Amino acid sequence: MKNSLPRTPGPIGVFDSGYGGLTILNKIREVLPEYDYIYLGDNARAPYGSRSFEIVYKFTLEAVGKLFEMGCHLVILACNTASAKALRSIQMNDLPGIDPARRVLGVIRPTVEGIGNITESRHIGVLATAGTIKSESYPLEIQKLFPDIRVSGVACPMWVPLVENNESQGEGADYFVRKYTDLLLQKDPEIDTVILGCTHYPLLLPKIRQYMPQHIRIVSQGEYVAESLKDYLRRHPEMNAQCTQNGSCFFYTTEAEEKFSESASIFLNQPIGVERISIEKT
Ligand code: DGL
Repeated sequence: MKNSLPRTPGPIGVFDSGYGGLTILNKIREVLPEYDYIYLGDNARAPYGSRSFEIVYKFTLEAVGKLFEMGCHLVILACNTASAKALRSIQMNDLPGIDPARRVLGVIRPTVEGIGNITESRHIGVLATAGTIKSESYPLEIQKLFPDIRVSGVACPMWVPLVENNESQGEGADYFVRKYTDLLLQKDPEIDTVILGCTHYPLLLPKIRQYMPQHIRIVSQGEYVAESLKDYLRRHPEMNAQCTQNGSCFFYTTEAEEKFSESASIFLNQPIGVERISIEKT
């Protein structure tokens, strides 16, 4: 693939299985509005949360390859499931062969770096997809940086479907929000900070807040990821030079365009133009 990739500077790629990454893109564009972005949602194959390691890795690698072909030198996996199950393999095994100068970054490490200093009880909860919880990525990363913190996680398999179907404010959402938040508090009543470890979950925040005791801090990832990217570009001028800065943003989906623009407007609060593309490699 390497020789056929565009060599000229290009936009920053932001990838998610579906719409959730838009919550990250929003924050990134607030902090770094001058850059160009391409957002890619693999909506046709979402959700990734309950899929196997092999499948999430295959799909994520295809998406990253597509974003490289579209001119990106830097890709953010704005999806915890992809970050948990595919990021390391892509960084270690695939990038050297594709193009050692291109980079793929995830959302778990920046979140963990930000969170360690805000918990007072040193008891943290993680709400995420089944895939992210099963991968143990959060406890492992937190253990590396903050070994004194105790981490408890609960998988919330019904939350992404609620968000994707625009039911996050509906009555049905109350039952499932309460179910998983109660489970987390039963696991560890000393938790004072909860990470929303799935990029879809900020859309459920009003309900999650309602069912969590007031003293518990609920943390969305967007700000941490955006600040971490800003810092990364400052520390890596060679990559910064590969990222164009005209303030543009284009959206691509593997599903029907109308469906994407309708649902994406829930995340972005504004209508957007979107193009359908295929990323599948046979
Ligand atoms: N947005 C993805 C994440 O952050 C989850 C959505 C899915 O299950 O595909 O984990």
